[in-house]
Amino acid sequence: MSTDLLAMVEGRRVVVVAGAGGVGKTTVSAALALGLAGRGARVAVVTIDPARRLATALGIEALGDIPHRVDAARVTAAGMQMRGTMDALQLDPRATFDRLVAREAPDDAARERILGNRIYRHLSSTVAGAQEFMAVERLFELSESGDYDVVVLDTPPARNALDFLDAPERMTRFVEGRGLRLLLGPRGGAGRVGWRALQAGGSMVMSVLERLTGAELIGDISEFLQSFDGMYQGFADRASAVKDLLASDGTRFVVVTGPRPEPSAEAMALWRRLQTDRYPLGALVVNRVHAMPGGGDTPPAQLAALLRDAGAPDPDGLAVRATDALEVARARARADLHEVDTLVSSLGDPALITVPALDADPVEVAGIAHITRALGAP
Ligand SMILES: Nc1ncnc2c1ncn2[C@@H]1O[C@H](COP(=O)(O)OP(=O)(O)OP(=O)(O)O)[C@@H](O)[C@H]1O
Ligand SMILES: [Mg+2]
Repeated sequence: MSTDLLAMVEGRRVVVVAGAGGVGKTTVSAALALGLAGRGARVAVVTIDPARRLATALGIEALGDIPHRVDAARVTAAGMQMRGTMDALQLDPRATFDRLVAREAPDDAARERILGNRIYRHLSSTVAGAQEFMAVERLFELSESGDYDVVVLDTPPARNALDFLDAPERMTRFVEGRGLRLLLGPRGGAGRVGWRALQAGGSMVMSVLERLTGAELIGDISEFLQSFDGMYQGFADRASAVKDLLASDGTRFVVVTGPRPEPSAEAMALWRRLQTDRYPLGALVVNRVHAMPGGGDTPPAQLAALLRDAGAPDPDGLAVRATDALEVARARARADLHEVDTLVSSLGDPALITVPALDADPVEVAGIAHITRALGAP
């Protein structure tokens, strides 16, 4: 049943790693990138808010969203080969959005007007879906750059992993400014109906906008809408190009989950949605699976005798505690196995990989390398 994930995604241009919050998306993204680079590819991995120690290990703690070459010596010191190259970066949604605006703006004046616009500055990072859209936008940029054979994309810890797929449309709607247009009346003055609707909704847009005075606000909104007017088509085209890339055969989606009911329910929903919408499915990774402890069938009395012979203090107590601990570990391993079985049967035998729960957080290159080994054939 176990799949060689590295072999499965080798030769693809894009790998998207998605799943519920906290299941190990960032870790698996780094591990996949490491494995593909090890096999000879020029890899970029876009991480999203990596643990600080992981960012340090990859050398990307202070570089914003500029790709940084991971030190091959660190990789080989961890016992991995490095035939290709691995560049890592942290997503900076604002910087990505600014670049997108700069590219789509008809001229320098228009660009400066948008980048300096308060509505843009407040909303470009807070509007729902912005981080998700900028993640795929960054992916698109890197993929188109020609500098990489494959780009691995970690995804944001979304409230709902499915949000990610709707982000391009949501972003296009934002740029289109339908919500903001409501705020303006037919002649560009304040539209009372729109205001009331927004206030009643207690929306985030409102809480940001409330900090501005009425006149400033109207001015800023008009400017925002005017500036984006000529760019709407550009954004819409870009969003659809991004969607096409995600849906193409050069892409594989990897869904990560943990062996627990909540993230698994989300993983199953995501898997089915990807299937329904015909996105190219790669594999399901069940991360942090506890192995069934071996041995240990010695009855407590016999174990106590062995411990006594070995000179252990309180051999009877120790034997009971050891037997109990073993039973706890077995129950945990059984529960994990049961969750994996449920996933397999619910999803009709998907390509599935289990990654063991490690004793220490994999935030060093050596820890990531452990995960890489679990993702590929030995
Ligand atoms: N197989 C594993 N064994 C032990 N610890 C792990 C394993 N995989 C991940 N972790 C740890 O679990 C934590 C969560 O992992 P990670 O940050 O990769 O999850 P995530 O899905 O990216 O989270 P978020 O949704 O918050 O972005 C981290 O501390 C990571 O080091
Ligand atoms: Mg993460």
